[in-house]
Amino acid sequence: MTTVSDAIRTRTSVRVFNDKQVAKEVIQEILELAGNSASNSNIEARKVYVLSGEPLKAMVAEITTGLYSGEDPDTPEYPAYPPKLQEPYRSRRYACGEKMYAALEIPREDKSKRIQQVMKNYSFFGAPVGIIISMPANMLEGQVIDIGIYLQSLMLLANERGLATCAQASWAQCPNRVRAALGIADDERIMVGLALGYAQQEQAVNRLDHPRADLSDYVSLRGF
Ligand SMILES: Cc1cc2nc3c(=O)[nH]c(=O)nc-3n(C[C@H](O)[C@H](O)[C@H](O)COP(=O)(O)O)c2cc1C
Repeated sequence: MTTVSDAIRTRTSVRVFNDKQVAKEVIQEILELAGNSASNSNIEARKVYVLSGEPLKAMVAEITTGLYSGEDPDTPEYPAYPPKLQEPYRSRRYACGEKMYAALEIPREDKSKRIQQVMKNYSFFGAPVGIIISMPANMLEGQVIDIGIYLQSLMLLANERGLATCAQASWAQCPNRVRAALGIADDERIMVGLALGYAQQEQAVNRLDHPRADLSDYVSLRGF
């Protein structure tokens, strides 16, 4: 039996999926359990769009066509990072990207291949299930924490069932397109997406094993 510790230890982001479909019962079970996630005052300020099959294909087709056309440029829902990422975050971000592109054998100079890789975000990296999570537009930072907790629940529950995931802030880069493709009104903010499916285990990009900071870098243990 997978423990929470196992699920946390073994979860990694997967960016190449195989064709195996995810059974509706499994999705349903993950969603039911993730619904137990904590939220401040239990307000559960979220909407979750779970797409597969034709609706997934149609959404991906509409959004990628729009992005490639370059028409109607979108405004990101929120900046992915602060404009000037300071150290040590800047270096960590750089190392994270370089590790991924090295595994994909895409050199820094090959801008076109790098862009193609970024664009794979907008097909959920070929995953059979794509999830978009929104929250009411008037919600604040407190509710963003709740969304993050919910997202982690989905990822761990998926992992426990042998499924792989990749959280995707990329979807928040084109919120108008997402809203249009899914028929969502302007009163919902597109916060994050999640690719969900079965991993192609042998792919180097699915085994990046990013290092983590030492606890001493960010934990302050007092009174122990
Ligand atoms: C909120 C959030 C948003 C993310 N957005 C993206 C994304 O848009 N595209 C992507 O390829 N990875 C995305 N990631 C995955 C991170 O890059 C990944 O979690 C990080 O590199 C650590 O690797 P690991 O998940 O394998 O441990 C996101 C992760 C989180 C938590």
